[in-house]
Amino acid sequence: MKHLLSSHDLSLDDIVGILDVADHMAEINSRSLPKVPALRGKTIASVFFEDSTRTRLSFETAAKRLSADVMTFMASSSSLNKGESLRDTIETLSAMGVDAMVIRHKSSGVPLTMTQWTDAAVINAGDGWHQHPTQGLLDAYTVTREFGTKDSLAGRSIAIVGDIKHSRVARSNIDIFRRLGAHVIVVAPPALLPKNIESWGVEVRANIDDVVGQVDALYMLRMQLERMDSSIVPKLPEYCALYSLTPERAVRMGSGAILMHPGPINRGVELIVDPADVPGSRILKQVTNGVNVRMAVLFTLLGSGATTVLQQGAES
Ligand code: CP
Repeated sequence: MKHLLSSHDLSLDDIVGILDVADHMAEINSRSLPKVPALRGKTIASVFFEDSTRTRLSFETAAKRLSADVMTFMASSSSLNKGESLRDTIETLSAMGVDAMVIRHKSSGVPLTMTQWTDAAVINAGDGWHQHPTQGLLDAYTVTREFGTKDSLAGRSIAIVGDIKHSRVARSNIDIFRRLGAHVIVVAPPALLPKNIESWGVEVRANIDDVVGQVDALYMLRMQLERMDSSIVPKLPEYCALYSLTPERAVRMGSGAILMHPGPINRGVELIVDPADVPGSRILKQVTNGVNVRMAVLFTLLGSGATTVLQQGAES
């Protein structure tokens, strides 16, 4: 595997293997000096054309904890603003000697196109509505480790609630959760479901009240207002009445059930409850796990494959 463009690039063995390597990374991150020399000499560029807090910073943290050099490309202060093309930008970064590029772009397919312009490994950090594979991996890591089921989600049910249609997170997560054996339920109004939802292998429900007390994990999606037809936005109060997690609904979550959200949260839209008041909230744990899993992805794509290097300290 040279690139990670989509969850569909990964076999089930690849998924389980990355989650296993993430366990090693979690151990490293628990040390007083959370750094190993595994990627010393490698250079990783974060190339974000769309805003990000979690994904960009966790990839950069992951790279540094593996002792790689990090190059941060800021689209807003780059020569794109002087008319330089995307292709010339990628070829320029590549010519500086980059081993991997972590890219986010508002258009689906840009990471795939980039693979024609660079010899570096390309990692998709979110492209349009298409895919966000490392979010799917970190969420699978969070659920499997929460329930102690390691390589499987068989017998577990996960409800993904909200804007499925515009969500790259839903596309990656549904694929990975299902291949690990979970029963996935999507909960959304028809306007926020993709047309071909019946081919996704999920159960469809029209109301959060149908599922809130019945599932092992309640995964609330962000309402992606920036990707929506403006006619949906005035209907938000109606949407909230049927699909938002309120304090009353949160207390009906099953005992041991967990609450997840990829962030950033629209408070008062998909979450009307403060996640800090929900004992099963794992939203910040997802962020912590994001560093473990992105270290695992970088190590899998760029490392020697020898996990013995993960036992060493950075000065070794
Ligand atoms: N979940 C996620 O992709 O968050 P950011 O947009 O902050 O990276």
